[in-house]
Amino acid sequence: MSVSVAPPRAKGLPIIGNTTGFMSDPLQFLLQHSCQMGRVFDMQIGSRIITVIWHPADIKHVLSDNAANYVKSEGYKAVKRMLGNGLLNSEGDFWRRQRKLIQPAFHLSEIAAMTNLMTATCSRIVKRWEHLPPGAVIDLSAELMRITLEIVTNALFSTDISPKVERIYQYMGTLLEYAYYRIVSPLQLPEFVPTPGELRFRKARQEFDEIIYNLIAKRKQQTTPSRHDLLDMLLASIDQDTQTGMTEEQLRDEIITLFMAGHETSANALAWCFYLLAQHPDVAMQMRQEINRVAAGKPMSFEQLQALTFTKQVVQETLRLYPPAWVIGRKSLQPDTIAGYQIPANRTVLISPYVTHRHPDLWEQPERFIPERFAKEEVRKIAQPGKFQYLPFGGGARMCIGYNFAQTEMLLVLAVILPHYSMKLPSQHAVQAEPLITLRPKKGLKMQINRL
Ligand code: HEM
Repeated sequence: MSVSVAPPRAKGLPIIGNTTGFMSDPLQFLLQHSCQMGRVFDMQIGSRIITVIWHPADIKHVLSDNAANYVKSEGYKAVKRMLGNGLLNSEGDFWRRQRKLIQPAFHLSEIAAMTNLMTATCSRIVKRWEHLPPGAVIDLSAELMRITLEIVTNALFSTDISPKVERIYQYMGTLLEYAYYRIVSPLQLPEFVPTPGELRFRKARQEFDEIIYNLIAKRKQQTTPSRHDLLDMLLASIDQDTQTGMTEEQLRDEIITLFMAGHETSANALAWCFYLLAQHPDVAMQMRQEINRVAAGKPMSFEQLQALTFTKQVVQETLRLYPPAWVIGRKSLQPDTIAGYQIPANRTVLISPYVTHRHPDLWEQPERFIPERFAKEEVRKIAQPGKFQYLPFGGGARMCIGYNFAQTEMLLVLAVILPHYSMKLPSQHAVQAEPLITLRPKKGLKMQINRL
């Protein structure tokens, strides 16, 4: 019988372990240690020991084969203060029931029906760029956040939030920054201490709540039938055990979760895509040609979007190099064994799609942007959701519910923008990846745009 041992520990400093090494550059820290230390290793962040895994077989074990032994890790708690018990944070039977309830709104036929609305929303925002002088510099990250925020609210809640979008955008920023700070800060003051950050967080959450409760109240009062969207589905749902509908608080939690999970990630993925295209104008040109050929000057249907073979490969390759959900965390309930190593109960296990996507044992020329790699049969096979080697949307039962929504949205935003605009990084604008809750370009993405 083989006796399992504890995973090797990354070398660190006395008392603080790997805290400073990790915090100064989390992406490089994780990638380098994953390459040097074998399949599984431990690191010490603050006083916590975290086990890092990157191998597809081990990820499959945690997210799928032995998923019953794992719940979301402590890191999600900070996000939970803002999102409550929505789909991203709930567990067990309650999560299962909510997922079953919400899933139909994300069925491919529903997404197909939303395509025109998504295109119209994106086109309306992009139209404002027509008035910009040639070579104007815009913060493309912020523009993409507005586009994806409006798309998600229009498509899922049939609500035009454009008058409130600036405020929501600011609240989201405050909430996300504070949540991240609460996750990584080694000095954790209790939540009741009214630090300036805590007070800003409470105010943003309260104002955001008001917007959402208003949305719910308005829909409840509505006498004319609506589009039968996600909000209607949530309002009409009945718990089979209690025969009651969702509480206002649960409705709020599900809505804010979809607001948040549904726009930040897609906006960052698109920002990274435009960043890579600015460095590879030949790829941008090839995409433009494909889009023009398929669209023939008209807005694209869902079916036409599926014909954008090369554009899809570019999106896949962008999500490989810059997965917005750069870490996925779980906590073990009972002791476990991963690749022969002991995992105690209550251990945080960290999976980083960023690391798995760039690991030299798994990919050829992992650091290079090569969209065509996704045309190869062998790469297409390993990039399937069940293989856990390419997991920008996670995997197993908790895989992203918005997977098809996001894919469609990204293709469509590229198809609206690329035929009409070219983008260049202004000189002296060095772009750095900032791994907060999502992986985003640090200080935004400035782009010089020109109408074609
Ligand atoms: C490029 C865009 C996106 C990326 C990279 C992404 C990534 C992810 C990942 C990795 C997870 C799994 C988290 C975990 O296992 O802990 C997840 C879950 C989730 N995502 Fe996404 N997502 C994207 C877009 C969306 C969109 C558009 C929506 C909704 C409109 C959405 C809603 C959700 C929800 C509700 C969950 C929790 C699902 C559950 O636990 O049942 N996401 N996402």
